Amino acid sequence: MGTIIRQTTELAMHIVSAYVNPGDVLVDATSGNGKDTLALAAMNPAQLYAFDAQEAAVQETIRLLEENGYGDRLADSGKGIPADDGLTGCRIIVRQLAHENLCEFFRNEAGAEAQETARPLTAVVFNLGYLPGGDKHITTKTETTIKAVRDAMELICSDGLVCITMYSGHPEGRKEKAALLEFAEELDAAKWHCAYISMPNQKNDPPEILLITRKG
Ligand SMILES: C[S@@+](CC[C@H](N)C(=O)[O-])C[C@H]1O[C@@H](n2cnc3c(N)ncnc32)[C@H](O)[C@@H]1O
Repeated sequence: MGTIIRQTTELAMHIVSAYVNPGDVLVDATSGNGKDTLALAAMNPAQLYAFDAQEAAVQETIRLLEENGYGDRLADSGKGIPADDGLTGCRIIVRQLAHENLCEFFRNEAGAEAQETARPLTAVVFNLGYLPGGDKHITTKTETTIKAVRDAMELICSDGLVCITMYSGHPEGRKEKAALLEFAEELDAAKWHCAYISMPNQKNDPPEILLITRKG
């Protein structure tokens, strides 16, 4: 195994992969340029939902998936869902959706398949902040992020994971991180495991990871 503490985003995906089995249902709650979605697709989920509030991010995520050979897995690609693929038949649903509506989406729109169990998700991944190379004003916001994390916690199965990469190098990100840590500190330790990962010798407010798992 190479070093897994070189880059926060890589470390986050490495941790997520430890929770995921082929056939699971995963969510990327901030798909952005699609890199995390691509990493999640490689974990062979049965279904992968990728959400972003911005249409530009949705298009970029679809483009990256297509460029990497996942085009025929896209639920709306018009190419159908590959049959007889067993556990390797990942179906990817990319949608423009504000993640504070996660619970509403799974209750109302995702359909019977996604609602088979009350808590259908193995992992929900957040990579907060703004779209790299995009409009920095369109960033995740404290109140809606907390609502979205609460929704994700509601939707994950026992031993499921919410993985949040936080950026404190900009004012809204600092506020968001402080609120998330305060939120995590107050979670009932009988029901939730939490971990907070920082890279203390990196300069310029490096991203940090907050992990929340539902106790089995
Ligand atoms: C740091 S980027 C995500 C990077 C991405 N995971 C990747 O691998 O490229 C943060 C994303 O969050 C999105 N975002 C901001 N507010 C949101 C919201 N309320 N719901 C969903 N996405 C949101 C932004 O549009 C942006 O694309």
